[in-house]
Amino acid sequence: MGPLQIKNILQTSPENQSVTVKGWVRTKRESKNAIFIALNDGSTIHNIQAVAEPGQFSAELLSTVTTGSCLKITGQLVESQGSGQAVEVKIDDILVYGTADPESFPLQPKKHSLEFLREIAHLRPRTNTFSAILRIRHALAFAVHQYFNDGGFFYLHTPVITASDAEGAGEMFRVTTLDLNKLPRTEEGAINFKEDFFGREANLTVSGQLEGELGAMALSKIYTFGPTFRAENSNTTRHLAEFWMIEPEMAFFELEDNMNLAEDFVKKVITYALIHCKDDLNFLQNRLAEEDKNKPQNERSIPLLEKLSFVVDNPFERLTYTEAIEILLKSKPHKEKKFQYPVGWGIDLSSEHERYLVEKHFKKPVILTNYPKEIKSFYMKLDEDGKTVRAMDVLFPGIGEIIGGSQREEDYDKLLGRVKEVGIDPENLWWYLETRKFGTAPHSGFGLGFERLVLFVTGMSNIRDVIPFPRYPKSAEF
Ligand code: 4AD
Repeated sequence: MGPLQIKNILQTSPENQSVTVKGWVRTKRESKNAIFIALNDGSTIHNIQAVAEPGQFSAELLSTVTTGSCLKITGQLVESQGSGQAVEVKIDDILVYGTADPESFPLQPKKHSLEFLREIAHLRPRTNTFSAILRIRHALAFAVHQYFNDGGFFYLHTPVITASDAEGAGEMFRVTTLDLNKLPRTEEGAINFKEDFFGREANLTVSGQLEGELGAMALSKIYTFGPTFRAENSNTTRHLAEFWMIEPEMAFFELEDNMNLAEDFVKKVITYALIHCKDDLNFLQNRLAEEDKNKPQNERSIPLLEKLSFVVDNPFERLTYTEAIEILLKSKPHKEKKFQYPVGWGIDLSSEHERYLVEKHFKKPVILTNYPKEIKSFYMKLDEDGKTVRAMDVLFPGIGEIIGGSQREEDYDKLLGRVKEVGIDPENLWWYLETRKFGTAPHSGFGLGFERLVLFVTGMSNIRDVIPFPRYPKSAEF
């Protein structure tokens, strides 16, 4: 299993036993009586303190022990003399694996702005904030797999390269091996995709749902968890061009079952983080409190752990789109013309409307259902009124939409009708439509944007800070 990690060493009782610690220097401090090196290996937010005596090592060696350098320290694990930690390492030997010239190493032991850290995404995992986020991200991903595994779901790997636009929004990245300077043409002058790698147009997937449904029609309960791509030019704090989506799909689930699953699922994975990421969450909570100090009282956020516990402990509010519109029409900002976008039945709710409902009106997560069919995808099951569909969006405070899902249209003729209505060529979806011909079943599913979940749990404010290497318009550097 390799060398002991700092996380484990910090929990070991000190008996002067010999230990080896490997990690990156966070700080070095020299006093009259001792030299203190704080080392971190990313296994925990906490550093281990290693202590040497003045004169024990040459000035030349010590000059290479600077913030960012990588060391192997051997020594004895002893009870700490200082108050900040229970144990420390009395150094016998130092091996410098790699130096980090202080003149050029951009991370110094001081607060850097998140914007600056985004420019050095190759190094930002070495900061407390980003290592905490990455550990929480890992824990949440693990909790997702555990939740579904325990619930009898199967992890289905849906393709990254697809020929269909599942969401019908046309925001896809093209995949091609054609020479862009010498495109093959048909007799009519169009690009001849028959000569392309797949013999047809292909794209990066915008959702694993359609293939997920094929899995659910055989295994009953599946989930996907994979990279998802959207070429929407949204330069917002909630959108990425490459993100990870979790999409469960369940045969024999109706809308109500779908909502129950979605609510239980998010609550359980957040609970997992509350139990297993205490140190990191505490660190982020303090970080937020520090930021809030400069804000007026009424703009300060609820402490992170309190916010997460609140979501876990309280039922989400459930209402229909139509009811939500009624609330918005009666709202103060609508009456005082404070909303930027108009409110009325049929509108696609904008984030200001969603935030009003969640943050001002209900003050808790909300599940909105039964949206007008015109603003939702073709695969959603039509309600009896013929106007709305069995859609459900889960809206979170500070985030907006975190989950989008629905009961699916299982009737072949109705689905074919919708496919044509929205202008999709049924030929392209023949395999999807066939599930409705052969043993169709009521079924439902949803998609959770993983980064939006990580955003909520970490309390960060920009989605670019909760994925190791964000992809967004004009940025694919790292
Ligand atoms: O609402 P969406 O578009 O739903 C689907 O893709 C369905 N196929 C899901 C399903 O029913 N299986 O996206 C689902 C979620 C959103 O609620 C949001 O959390 C996230 O995916 N999402 C994004 N996250 C980051 N960046 C983007 N550009 C996102 N677009 C959607």
